[in-house]
Parts: sequence; C-alpha cells; structure tokens
Amino acid sequence: KEEYGYQPCVNIGTAGHVDHGKTTLIQSLTGQWTSVHSQELKRGITIRVGYSDAAFYKCPSCEDPLGYSTRPECPGCGSKSELSRVVSFVDSPGHESLMANMLSGSALMDGALLLVAANEKVPKPQTKEHLLALQTLGITQIVTIQNKVDLVSYTDAMANYNDIAAFVNGTGASGSPIIPISAQSNLNTDALIGMIESTIKTPIRDEKSSTVMHVLRSFDVNRPGSRITDIKGGVVGGSLTEGTLKIGDEIEIKPGIVTTKRGAYEPILTEVVSLGTSAGTVESVRPGGLVAVGTRLDPAIARRDSLVGSVIGRPGTLPENSTGAQITVSLFDAVVGATDETKVAPIQNGEALRLNIGTAPVLSKVTKVRNENISVELRRPVCIFERIRNIDTFEAEIGPVRFAVPTCALS
Ligand code: GTP
Ligand code: MG
Ligand code: MG
Repeated sequence: KEEYGYQPCVNIGTAGHVDHGKTTLIQSLTGQWTSVHSQELKRGITIRVGYSDAAFYKCPSCEDPLGYSTRPECPGCGSKSELSRVVSFVDSPGHESLMANMLSGSALMDGALLLVAANEKVPKPQTKEHLLALQTLGITQIVTIQNKVDLVSYTDAMANYNDIAAFVNGTGASGSPIIPISAQSNLNTDALIGMIESTIKTPIRDEKSSTVMHVLRSFDVNRPGSRITDIKGGVVGGSLTEGTLKIGDEIEIKPGIVTTKRGAYEPILTEVVSLGTSAGTVESVRPGGLVAVGTRLDPAIARRDSLVGSVIGRPGTLPENSTGAQITVSLFDAVVGATDETKVAPIQNGEALRLNIGTAPVLSKVTKVRNENISVELRRPVCIFERIRNIDTFEAEIGPVRFAVPTCALS
C-alpha cells in the first residue's frame, strides 16, 4: 500500500437494500472485506459501518473509461498509470433493522454509491429508504449502480435498467449516471471508477479552523494475552471535518465517559500517539478520508465501538455537552421503507425518538411540541454542533418500526 501517495480526500458511502452487493463491491475496489465481525460472518449481512480505502489510477494513453483502475499499471495496456485520487469508502448495512447504523455512517459521506441488484424488482424498501436518507442529508453526488448483471439475461438487464432509471428520476439521484456492473466478477469496474471520479467531487475543506473529528468506530487493538509493556492505548476511527491533527497533539473527546454513579459524563483529555491512514502511519492528518487515531487512553474505554458518536477537538474548543435540544422537524408524508403506504403521524409529546447527531445515535424523549418545533430530552449527553443532521422516529417495542428521516436543525 506504499503507493498511496497521500491521505484519502473524500468519503464515499454505499447505500441500498440488503444483499444487493455493497460490501462485495467495496471488496472488489479495495481488496478488503469490511464485514469481519462474527455475527456479520454468521448472518451474511453487514451490521456495523465498514470502512476501507482505495487508490484510483488513470492510464494516460487509454481512452476513457478504459484506463481507470485500482492499479499503478494499466490493466489494459500495461503502461504506467497516474494516481487519480485516494478515496475512503463508508460501507452501510442494508438490513432494515440497521437504519440507525446507516445514518451514523452517512453523517460522514461526501457522496454515495446506490446499489440496486439487477435480479430484483425495483425499488426494494431500503433502496428507497437509503436514497431518501441521502437526499434528506443533502448528499447529492450519487452514482447509481445496477449490480449483479451476470445473473440476468440481456433483455432482463435492459428492462431492469429502465426500471432503475424511472425510479431515480425525480429523486435525489435523478441526475446521476447508472452504471451496470458485476461486483463479483469485476465487470465494468473501469467505467464505474471513471464515473465516480467525474461525479463525486472532493469537497473543499477548511484546514485552518479548529479541529473537529467525528468518531465512527473505536477499538481496543490489543490481542488477548499481550504483555503489559506492549499494550497500546485505545484507537478511535473517524473523519476530520475541519482542521488538522498531528502526533503529540493534546485532544479532548466529548461527551467523554461516565465518571460517577449518577451518570454524569466528563470529557476525556488525552494525546495523539499514532495516526493511521491507508498510507500507513503518518505524522499528521487533514480533513477528508478516514483516519485511525491512537491515543494514551485505557484501551477498555475504546473497546467495541464504545466511543462512536464522540467528537474530538483541541482542549477547550468543543461545544459543551448537551442533554437536551430544540429541533425544527419536517416529516415525510408517508413512511419510507414500509411496504404499505402508512402515513407519518405528527410527533407527540412524550414520544420516544431516535436521533442521529453527527455520528451519534441517541435515544430521546419529546418534552414539548409546538408545530414543527419540538424539544427533546436526550438519554445521554452529546456534543452538539449547530445542526442535527437527521432524525428517525420509532414506536418503542410495539408494532413496526416507523422510520422517517426528516431534516431538523437546532434552533
Ligand atoms: P448487506 O451489507 O447485508 O446489506 O449486504 P450487501 O449489500 O453488502 O451484499 P453483499 O456484498 O454481502 O452480497 C450479498 C450476496 O450477493 C453475496 O452472496 C455476494 O456474493 C452476492 N453478490 C454480490 N455482488 C454480486 C454480483 O455482482 N453477482 C453475483 N452473482 N452475486 C453477487
Ligand atoms: Mg454489506
Ligand atoms: Mg449479505
């Protein structure tokens, strides 16, 4: 992986119904299978948000899109290709019960790949639901992919392609190209990479403003039986949206950890001891792409994604932890992802809502409703910036899950 000259500069998400081939495509582009947890392997589905990087190359002598690949030598003519871009993929789970995980990941997506299986009716519920989530979050740079074309005849593939085109028309992906591929057999990958390069732009980010990193995963990287002298501190993975980080920097992590029996949270202060990107270990990182930050924290604190949803910044620069929020809500008319056309009921006082705040999924209770303005009490404190990205509502433990992904801003 030494050939990755630099840090990834853009986060590309996956979206689409369960089993339509998201993780298979990411594997074909990055060489990595991102769903590695035992439950994921056993059930054959992605559960946690996966991530992995790829370098895209373009051969200067081959005609578009033939020269695009993930190799430094052109697979077509064998000559030396030029590095086009290093990208990070944020791989979403497609299962209907894992929408909250998909939404956490989507907080970091700059653009997305919407996968639709060629051998299924269009649209399946989570094809619709994920696309609406992207649209609601303002993720407009989308490449739609017709996957598994190896499983259908030419005629069926064409009919399915037209169904996909009709479905995306009038949605957040309406202007988006549709690329037929077989992720499993690496078919048409060059055209796909070419289309990603021309459709999903690298965002312009502010390296000068104060550092903000949203945590998407956290780990204890020590193997059982490690010697105490070899133990490494907790590792947090995520993406910087602003500023930079370098080895030796003091950082603050909010909301932090519970320090008393009464459930009070205290921010954590620690130091950056290592920085990892697809380029390997580096001295400093800037916004964009996914990075792993090694710290001096007790690894138990970072174990098993326990810091997901945290925000990292320089000490004293992050907003105070909040235990409540005021939100302006705009609800969808009908329940997205439901098989029938269930109406979305207005939000009620006392109702339980699951919010996604940055990468943090958090349960809350509605304490006041006035038209589209509601107040909520959060089940645990969260470090909130000016905007809550999205919200999905559900009826706790009774009846079907009722997802809606309206926008809402802190007022
Ligand atoms: P979730 O993460 O659970 O939503 O699923 P996913 O969208 O990541 O699908 P995954 O990559 O796990 O693939 C599901 C199944 O489809 C696997 O058995 C894959 O081998 C198969 N598959 C994926 N892409 C293709 C393809 O292009 N052709 C064929 N024939 N099978 C494919
Ligand atoms: Mg998957
Ligand atoms: Mg699967």
